[in-house]
Amino acid sequence: MFITKHDVTDALKEVIFFAGQNNIVDLNMVDDIEIKGDDVKVTIIFPKLDDPAVGIIYNSVVKTLKDKFGEELKVDVKPVSEADKGRGPLAGVKNIIAVISGKGGVGKSTVAANLAVALKRSGNSVGILDADIMGPSVPIMFGVEGERPGMMEREGKSVMVPLENYGIKILSLGFFIQPDQALMWRGSMINNAFNQLMTDSEWGNLDYLVIDMPPGTGDIQLTLAQSYNIRGTVLVTTPQKIATADVRRAAMMYRQEKLEIPLLGIVENMAYFTPADMPEKKYYIFGQGATDELANELDIPVLGRIPIVEKIREAGDGGSPVSLDDETPVTQSFIDMAANIQKQVAML
Ligand SMILES: Nc1ncnc2c1ncn2[C@@H]1O[C@H](COP(=O)(O)OP(=O)(O)OP(=O)(O)O)[C@@H](O)[C@H]1O
Ligand SMILES: [Mg+2]
Repeated sequence: MFITKHDVTDALKEVIFFAGQNNIVDLNMVDDIEIKGDDVKVTIIFPKLDDPAVGIIYNSVVKTLKDKFGEELKVDVKPVSEADKGRGPLAGVKNIIAVISGKGGVGKSTVAANLAVALKRSGNSVGILDADIMGPSVPIMFGVEGERPGMMEREGKSVMVPLENYGIKILSLGFFIQPDQALMWRGSMINNAFNQLMTDSEWGNLDYLVIDMPPGTGDIQLTLAQSYNIRGTVLVTTPQKIATADVRRAAMMYRQEKLEIPLLGIVENMAYFTPADMPEKKYYIFGQGATDELANELDIPVLGRIPIVEKIREAGDGGSPVSLDDETPVTQSFIDMAANIQKQVAML
């Protein structure tokens, strides 16, 4: 049978990449098609190669082409990663860091925002993406609440231009979703919106893209983690046993064999309280030891210990993360944390 590239391309439109919610042709994942007699070789670009989707699509391509052109066809599928090809909308982003926790309200957004600022202060180009649909707080913390991202044309497609404040690029699910509507959003809608923030956006060249992930271990977290080449996760906990138990569960999910996303370490937030008039005192309000226990058990480092300080909350609510302040012990605790995270990334 005489087959053309056009025939093969047409047939491959039946192969769907679920994370992208479209077929692999329209997602521009088909990089190359070579045909020699009954031999067809298809090169397919994936966001990352250690993803179960690679195997699924591999099989689906073989089956689709054989069904269409006959069992005698010899199909060779070559998966390559976006990083190998130096392409993809996120090709300019060197390190995606996901800030996660098992439990809500432990200070994930505070840590993500201050991590972004501290990384920026040490000379990196930085973006922050708020993926927390139920409580998008990054726009408030960066003082861009109520603003909307701009749009531009990229390769014939209209894409978002992140907002910018303090030299940091910012996008948030909160730009799309009104808080009172959040409960009505289904998982697939959230994934769609998240994918747009990641790939239909002009992040440009970044050393770090920090993602404030939704708390918990549900489907959404899993999809997000599977679809992108996340360099590592930072776990946030408070020292309470009940918080570390939830963080343990979240850590296990990200560590699952199929995801294999490195856990960079744990940040202990609200580690202790120091009264402003007694700077030498540390009160361990939420207890002591549970974080170290968890770090030991998971065999990962404690990346930082952030005190409970009224200024952290005030600065967050006021739209300028506390790490923007001059050197104070609190700012220093975030700068040390960011330095440790950079060190862990360098060791990967
Ligand atoms: N170290 C700290 N000292 C004082 N206040 C803090 C500290 N960390 C966080 N907070 C305050 O606690 C509240 C919850 O923090 P944050 O929003 O960062 O938590 P979260 O884990 O992102 O919560 P959610 O699960 O709702 O997204 C905020 O008002 C924040 O300003
Ligand atoms: Mg939050």
